[in-house]
Amino acid sequence: MSSDPRKLPPPYRIKVVEPIPFLSPGERRRALAEAGYNPFNLRADQITIDLLSDSGTGATSAAQEAAAALGDESYAGARSWFRFLDEVRDLTRYPHILPVHQGRAGERILFTSLLKPGQICISNTHFDTTRANVELAGAEARDLPCPEAADLDSAEPFKGNIDLQALERILADPDGHRVGLVLMTITNNGLGAQPVSMANLQAAGDLCRRHRVPFFLDAARFAENAWLVAQREPAYRGRTPREIATRAFELADGCVVSLKKDGLSAIGGFIGLRDDDLFAACEANLIATEGFSTYGGLAGHDLERLAQGIREVVDPAYLSSRAESTARLARMVNDAGVDTVQPPGIHALYLNAGRLLPHLQPHEFPGHALVCQLYLDGGIRCAELGSLYLGAMDERHRLVTPAPFELVRLAIPRRVYTEAHLEYVAEIVAGIAKEPLRVHGYRIVSAPTLLRHFKMRLEPVGGHRA
Ligand code: F0G
Repeated sequence: MSSDPRKLPPPYRIKVVEPIPFLSPGERRRALAEAGYNPFNLRADQITIDLLSDSGTGATSAAQEAAAALGDESYAGARSWFRFLDEVRDLTRYPHILPVHQGRAGERILFTSLLKPGQICISNTHFDTTRANVELAGAEARDLPCPEAADLDSAEPFKGNIDLQALERILADPDGHRVGLVLMTITNNGLGAQPVSMANLQAAGDLCRRHRVPFFLDAARFAENAWLVAQREPAYRGRTPREIATRAFELADGCVVSLKKDGLSAIGGFIGLRDDDLFAACEANLIATEGFSTYGGLAGHDLERLAQGIREVVDPAYLSSRAESTARLARMVNDAGVDTVQPPGIHALYLNAGRLLPHLQPHEFPGHALVCQLYLDGGIRCAELGSLYLGAMDERHRLVTPAPFELVRLAIPRRVYTEAHLEYVAEIVAGIAKEPLRVHGYRIVSAPTLLRHFKMRLEPVGGHRA
């Protein structure tokens, strides 16, 4: 047997399973029409393979469920809180830890405590709720992805990095005093799940310290970033994912973390801080809005699952098999003639829908058209990352400025789908690649102004009405 962890199967077997539905093509057509052609409006029991998100959708382990049975639900000072606190402190080394029910609650508390109206928050790329919470705090969210990120096909190892020269320019600019926070998203979810290198974190942190700007991590995928660093950054070869993750947290003044991803749990998150005054402000906000500072909106059993999940997620055997599984899906899809953002990351695969469907113009939303076709053909649910989500619209929901790319994200839940499920996904993608011209465009019927992609309704342009 091979002793190379990259060649080994996942380090677990399956003990509890859940049935998945297979609808007929007619049922899927009706379901999608009733959902206003927005997969966020579908019922989960209308979906065969759900790749909408890797957030809160993973499978827990027997050890996590055993720990959950020991959950202490005391209002204050619960045993489960101290177990969680010890694990998170050991991982991050931050003196102050505040639990929150999920990442965006942490974002809201941190940004409203740290940012003043009119200030700027700079990121390699803000996640959508992160941007919304910056704006709700009255500040401006600005993305500075590195130039390498613009080439979707190149094999550059760290396309998630921030553009250091641009960051330095802004910080040194007369406007520099308006920068209230620099937030590095690891891995870069908005830009193809690409990792951020430790060298880039170090350099960005140094710049921030020189200009006295707080430097934070949005570390929802801290373990997956650490795994990719171990594989791709020579200075960290041979270091464990846990050591690398800890080093990344040490490079920052604090962090906000959704534990619905690398916490291997359905719910949870935390804020990590060094600064005593900021901690006091965030703690007061937490108690008023989320819950007392030893549970933060979480039940004791959640805190137990999370404490155990944080331990399991940095297992090199788990991370290597998960990375290989996503890379294999990428190879199958690429072999079928569909381009994906290169090199493949871990939590998701990003399909280049613009290139697959050149007959659709950005205002016909080729990414969204592919999302809908994947559901119609195979009951697969996933999300668009293109002009529908990122383009500028006028007040009648017509596209004014398209997004730079028309992508579709296939997010892979942790420990949930087998290789056979992913082969099925690749076959459905390949079927569309054989006859791309049968995919029609869409137009928006109605949409809210903030976070429009979650609740908008659409209709097909010229094709498959129910
Ligand atoms: N930051 C990043 C980088 C994220 O990917 C997410 C969530 C959040 C913050 C917010 O965390 O959901 O716990 O409130 N991402 C999910 C996704 C929803 O599908 O990518 P949350």
